[in-house]
Amino acid sequence: MEEEKRLIHMPLRSANSSARKASDFAKVQKIVMLFSILAVACLVTYFASFDVFGPPRLRLSSLYSIIQGSPPLSTGGQLVNDDYELRTLLEAASMADKTVILTTLNDAWAEPNSIFDYFLESFKTGNNTAPLLKHVLVICYDKKAYGRCLAALTHCYFFRSKQSAEMAHEAVFMSPAYVNMMWERLAFLEFILSIGYNFVFTDTDVMWLRDPFPQFLPDMDIQTSCDRFNGRPFDLDNFPNNGFSFVRSNSRTVRFYKYWITSRSRFPQLHDQDAFNKIKHEPPVKQMGLKIRFLDTDYFGGFCRPSKDFDKVCTMHANCCVGLDRKLVDLNITLLDWKRFMSERVAKWRVPRQCKLSWAKSRSLISVSNSYLDGPDADS
Ligand SMILES: *[C@@H]1O[C@H](CO)[C@@H](O)[C@H](O)[C@H]1NC(C)=O
Ligand SMILES: *[C@@H]1O[C@H](CO)[C@@H](O)[C@H](O)[C@H]1NC(C)=O
Repeated sequence: MEEEKRLIHMPLRSANSSARKASDFAKVQKIVMLFSILAVACLVTYFASFDVFGPPRLRLSSLYSIIQGSPPLSTGGQLVNDDYELRTLLEAASMADKTVILTTLNDAWAEPNSIFDYFLESFKTGNNTAPLLKHVLVICYDKKAYGRCLAALTHCYFFRSKQSAEMAHEAVFMSPAYVNMMWERLAFLEFILSIGYNFVFTDTDVMWLRDPFPQFLPDMDIQTSCDRFNGRPFDLDNFPNNGFSFVRSNSRTVRFYKYWITSRSRFPQLHDQDAFNKIKHEPPVKQMGLKIRFLDTDYFGGFCRPSKDFDKVCTMHANCCVGLDRKLVDLNITLLDWKRFMSERVAKWRVPRQCKLSWAKSRSLISVSNSYLDGPDADS
């Protein structure tokens, strides 16, 4: 700010002082002009350095769009996002084969000592997972989450959503705002696939204990974790949990995501996960030739089904849990158990503990379908 004021005032001052010498006037005019151009350039740079929330930045991003000849990203009139910024971040965060690790973050989960800290901590205590952090791109739903992300990681994207204002407070599970947000997220993921990026989508309450990549098969389109795994990786009757999944970018997955998104009109009451469970059996999906693999809970477990094998486990998801506080207690124990295994070879989970209680209670008190309460976002 200081710097920029000085630059603007300097040409004016030098113009006054040299007005006495008429012979120098033309020279001074040139200098004034030069300084004015410099000042304008500085102003532009200055506005460009604004964070995403200021109006100058929004104008600048439209400018980028005009220069690039592409309108800001808009999917079904739901998203108004900065295509240029997103592409830049994806390029920076992705691995050599254009794979990126995506997660989403809101205000409540970004609080100090909340879910996001456990997520980051898991990468640090996991076996060879720390190097994967540089491939994580966090999709932030609000200003606070964005700030917290930038303080910890290099790749953070501010997602401008219609629901952002509501998401600043933990959206009530299965409220219209929550359901909308889940569907918007799906449109966002479809866009990422459509521009050629593969992704591992991970909820922030998934603890990364080992590098999952060696476990993925090369010729699969979608590989998803499960709340419950029936032992048959290609059986559509498994109970998937899309809170951890690896999706390759290709024409089949882009078509499938588009189909999934449009299925919303047929299932207006459903969450994207439940819609997935409906459409996975539909003929158009079979015709697409989409190859879905369900991941074994021994490798990709959760509080619904903790991994039985500490020598295999890659991730532990705080699913089947109601209440953020309970989730935090059990994630803390999860990391302690993992550390104990790494240092003393004690292979025993003391979780779910709080989550188990919350789960039993919620199931006996409320008669809702199991899948409504399954999953990472079953808080509040
Ligand atoms: C951690 O990874 C290293 C190298 O891949 C391996 O030798 C070691 O056994 C692993 N430790 C555990 C506890 O899995
Ligand atoms: C788990 O809780 C203990 C005790 O409250 C705390 O000292 C520790 O930092 C927590 N662990 C993590 C990973 O936050």
